[in-house]
Amino acid sequence: MKLRKMWLNVNGANRMFICNPEKDSLSTVLRRMGLTGTKVGCGTGVCGSCSIVLDGKLIRSCTKKMKTVKEYSKVITIEGIGTPNNLHPIQVAFMNCGAVQCGFCTPGFIVSSYALLLENNNPTREEVRDWFQKHRNVCRCTGYVQIVNAVMDAAKVLRGEASIEDITVPMPKDNEYYGKPLVRPTSLSKVCGVADYGDDQELKMPEESLHVAIVQPKVAHHAKILKIDTSAAEKMPGVVKIITSKELLEAGGTNIMAEAQFHERTTVMVPSRKILCDEKIYRYGDVVALAVAKTKEQARAAAAEVKVEIEKLPEYLNYLDAVMPDSIRVHEDTPNIFSMQPVLKGVGLEEALNVNDVIDNSAYSTSGSFYSSRQPHLSIEGTTVQAYFDEEDNLAIQCKSQGVYSTIGRIGNSVGVPKDKIRIIMNPTGASFGWSTNAGDVCLAAAAAVVTKMPVALSLTYEEHQHFSGKRCPCHSNGRVACDENGKITAAEFEFGMDHGAYSWGGDDIMTKPARFAFFPYNIPNVAGLVRIANTNHNFGTAYRSYGSPQAYTLSEALMDMLAEKAGIDPFEFRYRNIAREGETNINSYPFRQYPMEEMMNIMKPIYEKAVEEAKKYDTPEKRRGVGLSWGGFNVTEGGTDSASVAIELNSDNTFTKYDTYQELGQGGDIGSLMLTLEALKPLKVTPEQIKLVQNDTKLCPDSGMSGASRTHYMSGKATIIAAEKLMNAMRKEDGTYRTYDEMVAEGIETKHFGKYQNTSVEGLCRLDPNTGIGDPTPAFTYCLNLAEVEVDTATGKTTVIRFTCVDDVGKVGNIAAVNGQAYGGISHSIGFALSENYDDVVKHSNMLGAGVPYIKDVPDVINVIHYERPDEIGPFGSSGASEAFQSAGHVAVLNAISNACGVRIYEMPATKEKVKAGLDIIAAGGKVEPPKKYFLGSDLYDELENIKANPVKFGGDDFFIPLGNDANAERFF
Ligand code: FES
Ligand code: FES
Repeated sequence: MKLRKMWLNVNGANRMFICNPEKDSLSTVLRRMGLTGTKVGCGTGVCGSCSIVLDGKLIRSCTKKMKTVKEYSKVITIEGIGTPNNLHPIQVAFMNCGAVQCGFCTPGFIVSSYALLLENNNPTREEVRDWFQKHRNVCRCTGYVQIVNAVMDAAKVLRGEASIEDITVPMPKDNEYYGKPLVRPTSLSKVCGVADYGDDQELKMPEESLHVAIVQPKVAHHAKILKIDTSAAEKMPGVVKIITSKELLEAGGTNIMAEAQFHERTTVMVPSRKILCDEKIYRYGDVVALAVAKTKEQARAAAAEVKVEIEKLPEYLNYLDAVMPDSIRVHEDTPNIFSMQPVLKGVGLEEALNVNDVIDNSAYSTSGSFYSSRQPHLSIEGTTVQAYFDEEDNLAIQCKSQGVYSTIGRIGNSVGVPKDKIRIIMNPTGASFGWSTNAGDVCLAAAAAVVTKMPVALSLTYEEHQHFSGKRCPCHSNGRVACDENGKITAAEFEFGMDHGAYSWGGDDIMTKPARFAFFPYNIPNVAGLVRIANTNHNFGTAYRSYGSPQAYTLSEALMDMLAEKAGIDPFEFRYRNIAREGETNINSYPFRQYPMEEMMNIMKPIYEKAVEEAKKYDTPEKRRGVGLSWGGFNVTEGGTDSASVAIELNSDNTFTKYDTYQELGQGGDIGSLMLTLEALKPLKVTPEQIKLVQNDTKLCPDSGMSGASRTHYMSGKATIIAAEKLMNAMRKEDGTYRTYDEMVAEGIETKHFGKYQNTSVEGLCRLDPNTGIGDPTPAFTYCLNLAEVEVDTATGKTTVIRFTCVDDVGKVGNIAAVNGQAYGGISHSIGFALSENYDDVVKHSNMLGAGVPYIKDVPDVINVIHYERPDEIGPFGSSGASEAFQSAGHVAVLNAISNACGVRIYEMPATKEKVKAGLDIIAAGGKVEPPKKYFLGSDLYDELENIKANPVKFGGDDFFIPLGNDANAERFF
């Protein structure tokens, strides 16, 4: 190895260091110097998180090899721009504009903004967007709007037109914090680049720590493993251990991740997923071994030397192939369709086939078949885990986790460590959007720590991460819907075939969502529907914001537009006639929990009318303009068995510590918890500085449940109220004043109080009946009415979303910047889902760019978010959930707008420019874009509904839950 001594002028000071000029990138060197504010996400030059200024020019340092860097070059990193005690105006602006969510992209954006403002301190918004586009700064969380706001604010300060105070959110007066814009507690460290994410933790681990690399053969989607030869790898320099399933079994693990059955119709008999595959590879991203070595490079080199011999097996890469009558089973214990949920209502409940008759005899009807693609989450930070034994001999695992306690349940017996000796600690996290519910990465690191009995760090390359982590379930669907001559819907039939990929866990929960959200929130009197879910050999399905519902809206919101057209009614008016009104029921035969639909449509009406007018005005043969609507929404909480616990403690200095697991993935777990605590302790006139948050460490915090299902604010909010009341009751004196800490101690009164809230206290909650789909599982909903305005370039087929409006109902808004951030972010994911995102081709879609992540110019700068703040009568302080409704149906608004603009209906997502252009060519030739032939989803819909009726299963009620494979550690989802 030939090394070079070099000098660089870093943030104003000359610094000497040693590097490998051929191999080291500038980002590697800077991070080795301790400047870990320079984050590495993609590592391949496509995300901008590693942006720095080199000799006055903005560059992406991950692809800048040291051999091309001149001695004494001048480097500016985030650490040179400002510090926590001396913030640069750009940092102040990012914090105060809500431009920081997970914060992983933030240092790159701030450095990029700094470089822009050096060149031009008076940019227009479009110039700011052009700059970020040119320099490939990707933010997956924010939808970019608040970032541009921040740059504009900072520029004003730099020009002397505003002061720091002018761009700082004022502290609310009179303890009225709830609903006000309060800056997130974690944003200060994020804007300064001193928040230590997983890879930063790794760099700061003790010297003896080992590094783990995965053996991910990437040779087949389905294969028998004939031999894993580790002999050459074991002899590689620095190697401590090569771990296959054999070594893990010898160390006491079962190698099998815990799974459970959540639905009576699930046929999975044994857990489907092993930590290290030993008999079969079920998908492209499977891992068969781990190489553990003294350095990361040595571990990677050794992993490359592990030889895997395989025999290929038939591969089913989509639902349609896996459910053909002659398809072999992906897992021997279960048919490929491993669960199903019917939905029957009205005449459908009496005799499903009657729905067919109602549709046939209605004035208007339409039908279509649709495909929702396998959407990748594309968080900029990928997989990074550290595992070690702590002072109490707990197996401590620092990771990204959507649910620190449920991660323990998912590990189960797999690594041979009892549940009470596993401690999960959440690192500062560069987002997840759902993939970190799955814990496969946690099990890999845990296995390495257990086998070697040493501290270990596992950090995947972005490509490894992309193949390893789960994705949103793709879904094929067929549907028909009909209305009378007045445009009132008479009946709907639908069937969904969800592809849950190689592994089953959680699929029978995801499957219940289309059975609730197809045709939400309309009044559909008669329904015959069925949702099926199947194993294939593609990547496994997992949670993703609004999980299971976008697939439903892909069908129902397209059919709503198609039926409106058939009936000759404007799509807004058609929806207005069909939204549910007080007393009308949802497709599960229960009343909606709330009825904000009409008020929300009234708010949207003038905006829609103006958009239609503008589309007409600016429509040209070259650039067709169109407008599209969609209704969306999602449930709040995971139902009757959901519960959350928190604790609040009065400290010796009369401040408070709040303990919870409100997992912060960028959505605002810190600010959400703070707002709730401030409001709950309001009688004590507590200020934000008086509350310390201790979060997301299972050794220290009670279980507040998973951050998912839009449940955390609602559930932990209710628990916070209970804990605060208990504490305040303990503190309250007879005269109504409150005891100090010293007084409490002197009187022997407990200073730490727990609050536990359970949904069992809500009357009437019940899971969907597995035979009929009748049920009312959750206490609240969130609602979104979306309006997309698009322009289609007829020469290329490229669609640009030029404006997006969303009227939402998330109850009372707790923190406006956080909720707006969820809205902008969710909408940007929806636009990406509609137009570009996919994980289907494992070569093309292996990185963010190839997988279609939206850059700033792919998302409109004008996103209007209008909160219809109907106070939720049972949520904490009037709030409901937030976040997931914003990504439920926005994609269909875009697809409907494309159809409105140019007549091309995209039935199979995403709406790439090639697909739109092909449709335009068909229309130009005098044809019509037809839906795909009705999909065969495993059996005839009505035959299957008959079969279900003839063979009912016993309804297990709200407590239904069966651990698979006798894993005593298996736990509920939540
Ligand atoms: Fe360097 Fe993504 S561009 S980490
Ligand atoms: Fe930008 Fe998370 S805040 S990626």
